[in-house]
Amino acid sequence: MKLPRSLSASAFLVNESRARRVDISQDRFANLWVTDETRTLWDEFAADVYPFDAIELGLRNRFFLETLQSFVRSVERPVCINIAAGFTSYPFLIEEPCRWVEADLEPVVSLKEQQVNQWMAQGLLPKRILEFVAVDLQRSMSRRLLFRRLQELIGDAPSFILLEGITYYLKLRSLHALLSGCGRIQQPGSLLACDFWDASLAKNRTFQRLTTFFSSRFGFDASQYLFLDPARFHQLAEYEVVEMTDIQSLEKRFLHSDILRDSNAIIPEHYVVLRRRP
Ligand SMILES: C[S@@+](CC[C@H](N)C(=O)[O-])C[C@H]1O[C@@H](n2cnc3c(N)ncnc32)[C@H](O)[C@@H]1O
Repeated sequence: MKLPRSLSASAFLVNESRARRVDISQDRFANLWVTDETRTLWDEFAADVYPFDAIELGLRNRFFLETLQSFVRSVERPVCINIAAGFTSYPFLIEEPCRWVEADLEPVVSLKEQQVNQWMAQGLLPKRILEFVAVDLQRSMSRRLLFRRLQELIGDAPSFILLEGITYYLKLRSLHALLSGCGRIQQPGSLLACDFWDASLAKNRTFQRLTTFFSSRFGFDASQYLFLDPARFHQLAEYEVVEMTDIQSLEKRFLHSDILRDSNAIIPEHYVVLRRRP
């Protein structure tokens, strides 16, 4: 399994993190995507950047999985849309009927569609109906095509849009356009969840090592990371904040421990769940 040396390749790395701590992530299919090459890359990442990625990614996955699960259980005809889905496994981890849509860059969706179809046929993944949509979120025409398709799929149904592991890679204007586009197509009461980084991260020593690693391995320029003020989410016209939390709170909630207590030794991510206003 190969992708061009780019940010998309980082989607394999996060799968190894989820696969290392299935007890936390609950993602029992993450390992399907992991090759020896990714395991070696993960070991180098742990040595060069920080050793806690399996805990952080496990907690992040657990939080979004449980949030998705309770949404799917609480409404009829749910539509769940994962934008920049990478190689996450949510459709296969949730039993209840749901319409699943995944969007990402074209090479990622092509590879994922082909692999999951093969693994479902082989019985390695439970059978699900998924629709894949190729999109480049940094391009307005591409976003427009995505929204047109999502609007057709959502119609008047309740929807959940997940933006995981993507906000900090987008230009601010792309993120604004993405959020307001989602606001236009979602019905009142529908949810949107994402993770984000705030500006205090710039001084964080683990983050500084991460930018060096990502720049050398994936060619991503450190000056391009987007930081968001948490207050920004309270000012959105289309959405109200249902929950805002962070990685240390998730550790207390799910693990009842404080391994991640030193903010300088981790990537202190934030998480927000938004509800479409009436
Ligand atoms: C760090 S991975 C996160 C993947 C997945 N959501 C997860 O949490 O494991 C970032 C994802 O964003 C996608 N991505 C990066 N830039 C993108 C863009 N301009 N348009 C669409 N997807 C993009 C990558 O292909 C990759 O799948």
